[in-house]
Amino acid sequence: MWLFGILLLYFSYSVYAKQNCPLYGLGYPKPTNLLAQPGIKKAAESLDSVFSQYIENANSTGSEKFSYSVEVFSADEDEPLWSRYWTAPNLETLNSTGVTKVDGDTVYRLGSVTKVLTILTFLAEAGDGIWNDPITKYIPEIKAMVDDGIDNSHSITKPDWDFITIGSLASQMSGLVRDYALLGELTQGSTAARAAQIGFPIIGSAEIPPCGNRPVCNRTQFFEGLNKLPPSFSPYVTPAYSDIGYTLLGYALEQMTGKSFGQLVQDKVILPLGLNHTFYSTPKDSLGIIPGGRYQTNWAFNMGNESPTGNMYTSSSDLSRIGRAILRSSLLPPAMTRRWLKPVTFSSDPKSGVGMPWGVRQLPLTKGTDSPYQFATSFNKVGTLGKYTAMLAIIPDFDIGFSILVAGEAPSGLGTSLADALSNTYLPTMINTARSQANEMYGGTYSSSDSALNSSLSIVVDSATPGLSLSSWISNGTNLMFYSVAMAHNITKSYWEKVRPSVHLYPTGLWDATSDGGKRVAFKAVFEDLSLSNASKPFTTDCATWISVAGIMYGSKPLDQFIFNIDAAGNVTSVENAALRNRLEKVA
Ligand SMILES: *[C@@H]1O[C@H](CO)[C@@H](O)[C@H](O)[C@H]1NC(C)=O
Ligand SMILES: *[C@@H]1O[C@H](CO)[C@@H](O)[C@H](O)[C@H]1NC(C)=O
Ligand SMILES: *[C@@H]1O[C@H](CO)[C@@H](O)[C@H](O)[C@H]1NC(C)=O
Ligand SMILES: *[C@@H]1O[C@H](CO)[C@@H](O)[C@H](O)[C@H]1NC(C)=O
Ligand SMILES: *[C@@H]1O[C@H](CO)[C@@H](O)[C@H](O)[C@H]1NC(C)=O
Ligand SMILES: *[C@@H]1O[C@H](CO)[C@@H](O)[C@H](O)[C@H]1NC(C)=O
Ligand SMILES: *[C@@H]1O[C@H](CO)[C@@H](O)[C@H](O)[C@H]1NC(C)=O
Ligand SMILES: *[C@@H]1O[C@H](CO)[C@@H](O)[C@H](O)[C@H]1NC(C)=O
Repeated sequence: MWLFGILLLYFSYSVYAKQNCPLYGLGYPKPTNLLAQPGIKKAAESLDSVFSQYIENANSTGSEKFSYSVEVFSADEDEPLWSRYWTAPNLETLNSTGVTKVDGDTVYRLGSVTKVLTILTFLAEAGDGIWNDPITKYIPEIKAMVDDGIDNSHSITKPDWDFITIGSLASQMSGLVRDYALLGELTQGSTAARAAQIGFPIIGSAEIPPCGNRPVCNRTQFFEGLNKLPPSFSPYVTPAYSDIGYTLLGYALEQMTGKSFGQLVQDKVILPLGLNHTFYSTPKDSLGIIPGGRYQTNWAFNMGNESPTGNMYTSSSDLSRIGRAILRSSLLPPAMTRRWLKPVTFSSDPKSGVGMPWGVRQLPLTKGTDSPYQFATSFNKVGTLGKYTAMLAIIPDFDIGFSILVAGEAPSGLGTSLADALSNTYLPTMINTARSQANEMYGGTYSSSDSALNSSLSIVVDSATPGLSLSSWISNGTNLMFYSVAMAHNITKSYWEKVRPSVHLYPTGLWDATSDGGKRVAFKAVFEDLSLSNASKPFTTDCATWISVAGIMYGSKPLDQFIFNIDAAGNVTSVENAALRNRLEKVA
């Protein structure tokens, strides 16, 4: 009776089980009907109290001098899950030509959050098939900088233009320097005199950019300047932030389409999404928060040709609309959105990477280090310009995001501190909601309608392990919890007694509609042996379950495919296993 022994072992060891290794980014079915969930309402209340106690308290943050519009949005709801608008009490003393009170329609400057709109426009217009095209193909001025036959692959003075691709510019992997004559150029404005004072040599006027902030560089000046800039690195060495890269993306798209970038943003993003408070260049003052003079705050500063890198304006409600449109893939084919919402490179921080133009962060879903493999990935972009700070964060694991717009004299890092507060509140809420909805929908016992057959399985969703967990799986009297794991890991008979099987199901996103108005929804099982030790050594890992997906097939059907039948009312009625070719009815 070895099976009995196995079951005993399974239960007695489960407390000490090593961590499950989920499939990346799948987690739980996306929670729905969020605004009606008590947990979501509670999160909103607790955030209100955090904001009024800590952020709007002038004594700790100086909140009399800054305003903000902040929203938590979800692809599942057209209304924000939570919003908060704060008007700086000192606004009325500033003789502002803008709004006197901020709300969700108040327009702010986006700074570099513009880059998200630049990429969205680019993808909507041209797709990502040209990511590996060299930029020389689309910009004649750059083509003219390339001397045929010269190897610039390691040149200190000349960028390797033939290998600087559209995708490298989008992902900050071009190796180009950050700016030309815009930010950080010491010969510009008030810093010039100070630079001379602290010992920078006096340089001739030929070396001083003739343009920059005011006037901004025109196309001729920009490319003349660009021709003098050394690279920081060869392409694809390491990420290095470059505004120039995004200016070049703008020029490239204009060349491809024959339209101005502003027109493209309007046609491809602003109009299709109905963004009535989003602007490529300065809108009427009366729409915006202007915490001071219209030039002194940089409200009216026009970046001209360099606009694709940071010129845009939006409101928090429009920024949330943009975020929802990204999560819902409203403007792009879904597969293209998924390609977009991935990192392109690691960074020095193992928990963060770089995308297009995203900063990518892994946000832990459980406290401490008890479940290192349970995290959500955020794709975010921060921007600052003059008196404005903006941030957009997109968290596809839960289909939610944050829109954060700040104007005024804010403490440094306020934008990301607000995002920390939102994520500390909403991530636990979302995972709890996802778990309880998954449990309500899929949890329970399923068994064969043929009472002569001893076939059943049970699903639970618990708060410690990821996905849907099988607590038992018997097929015609055979314990498949055990056999699936034994087969997946090719465990020989002499080790059978040590196996601690663990089977978890993750949503795949695949589904078919049925003729009766219902759905068939596919999940992927991961078969793990929790008796194996935790191992994180140079090459030995205990979390690489992606390698084993569809690892056991029976007559071309995978053992790890579970298909739930859902009726027209949205209730799960049964589950099928592809390889077993069986169907187990849900027991009420
Ligand atoms: C701020 O500080 C002042 C002076 O210390 C105090 O009277 C006031 O109650 C404080 N306000 C808040 C909201 O803590
Ligand atoms: C606002 O305008 C008033 C009246 O013209 C002037 O006295 C005051 O200095 C102005 N305040 C600022 C911050 O410019
Ligand atoms: C850019 O500005 C310079 C200096 O004013 C001028 O000579 C040049 O013609 C301008 N180029 C374009 C494309 O406007
Ligand atoms: C934007 O304005 C148009 C025209 O007035 C209107 O139809 C549309 O609903 C507005 N969009 C939003 C998101 O309010
Ligand atoms: C169940 O197992 C019995 C005994 O091994 C076998 O005869 C029968 O065909 C099996 N039934 C199904 C539906 O697989
Ligand atoms: C069904 O099969 C399981 C696993 O082999 C066994 O433990 C259980 O006793 C069986 N139940 C019945 C009613 O035969
Ligand atoms: C499975 O294990 C057996 C016995 O150790 C071995 O002979 C066989 O090659 C293994 N199969 C695979 C696919 O690793
Ligand atoms: C089916 O779903 C509806 C609403 O989702 C629920 O009210 C009802 O009780 C469910 N029916 C069964 C049989 O579970």
